[in-house]
Amino acid sequence: MSLLEISDLRIALNGDRDSQVVKGLDLSIEAGQTTCLVGESGSGKSLTALATMGLLPPVLKPIAGSIKLKGRSCWGRNSRGCARSGPPPCP
Ligand SMILES: Nc1ncnc2c1ncn2[C@@H]1O[C@H](COP(=O)(O)OP(=O)(O)O)[C@@H](O)[C@H]1O
Ligand SMILES: [Mg+2]
Repeated sequence: MSLLEISDLRIALNGDRDSQVVKGLDLSIEAGQTTCLVGESGSGKSLTALATMGLLPPVLKPIAGSIKLKGRSCWGRNSRGCARSGPPPCP
């Protein structure tokens, strides 16, 4: 199991499918691994990090996908993000 696993992350302005600012991002990070997220300005690096921590501005809403920390879902329509959902379960 990956430490952090992001699947089909989709973030949209006002939740509108036609206004997606992150369009289906997949990413996994293993424990002890250092990962650099590289992309042109405006490609969604900061929003991906904010979504992982549950710190997206209210106007930007998750419309699809999942973010799991140690296998535990910490993001989605009804979730408040990894940083706000308490510590992950012990291995
Ligand atoms: N608060 C916001 N309201 C509307 N659009 C935003 C907001 N923040 C970022 N965006 C848009 O989302 C896209 C991705 O932004 P961002 O994650 O900041 O890119 P990066 O960090 O890769 O430069 C950009 O098109 C940006 O204009
Ligand atoms: Mg940025």
